[in-house]
Amino acid sequence: MAARMFDLQGKTALITGAGRGIGRSIALGLAEAGADVALVSRTKSDLDQVTKTISGFGRKTLGIPTDVKNADEIRNAYKQFDEAFGQLDILIASAGISQRVPFLDVSEDNYDEVFDTNVRGLVFCCQEAGRRMISSGGGSIVLISSVVAEMALMNRNLYGATKGAVSALARSLSLEWSSHNVRVNLIAPGFIETSMTKPILDDDDVRQAAIDQTPLRRLGQPDDLVGAAIFLSSDASSFVTGDTIVVDGGLKVS
Ligand SMILES: NC(=O)c1ccc[n+]([C@@H]2O[C@H](COP(=O)([O-])OP(=O)(O)OC[C@H]3O[C@@H](n4cnc5c(N)ncnc54)[C@H](OP(=O)(O)O)[C@@H]3O)[C@@H](O)[C@H]2O)c1
Repeated sequence: MAARMFDLQGKTALITGAGRGIGRSIALGLAEAGADVALVSRTKSDLDQVTKTISGFGRKTLGIPTDVKNADEIRNAYKQFDEAFGQLDILIASAGISQRVPFLDVSEDNYDEVFDTNVRGLVFCCQEAGRRMISSGGGSIVLISSVVAEMALMNRNLYGATKGAVSALARSLSLEWSSHNVRVNLIAPGFIETSMTKPILDDDDVRQAAIDQTPLRRLGQPDDLVGAAIFLSSDASSFVTGDTIVVDGGLKVS
């Protein structure tokens, strides 16, 4: 009974940002737990590598190269998903970018790039997922936010604002869609080693400062997010919505 609650066999998922980093680990984790998974990001070669691994698990998978900044591309990705998989049970929205720009230097291009990816992209991914889940009787949406939604990191002004928006959106959608049995939750990672954080963590002083700020005394790895993602995607969390799982090694209490 306990293990069955986490079993994703028979469920289908669409995962954005699945080409690398956190989204890739979650895609592999959901597939290992039994889900068939569609993978979305821009770089086809990344998607090909992940689909190859997932096919090896015996799961159905499809890479759908898509730029989430473009709502038409998102709608087209969902059409391809419908044709290949039919029903959608799980959306994991991990596609995102970060920028480090002092606020007085922020340009309109900076604004468009980070908001169009982290907010606009996520809004239309959720809208397409919600339409399908409402008509099929339910589903689980997991949005990857950040501890930066609640705490300041130097020069991550716009990035923090996008993650605050993601948190607010999750709360709204969880209320709006709970009567349709569509659950909407957040995962808020702390410092995770990925290509997003590599440019800053390659600096030994910054790396050590991040470890020192983290009570569990290490940086997170993408696989650290998999347990929370499986929990929120599965029947184990069937009475959980509008909530956040913080996966940060204790950063928030430091
Ligand atoms: N790493 C951390 O410490 C950390 C902490 C808190 C929250 N997060 C959040 O976790 C999520 C994943 O971050 P990560 O660290 O795994 O970053 P990452 O390694 O850079 O991976 C980001 C993924 O998103 C995709 N992506 C970016 N822009 C896209 C676009 N316009 N359209 C479609 N896909 C796009 C990338 O693929 P393409 O470039 O090929 O499109 C890639 O697959 C982000 O939302 C991030 O804000 C990360």
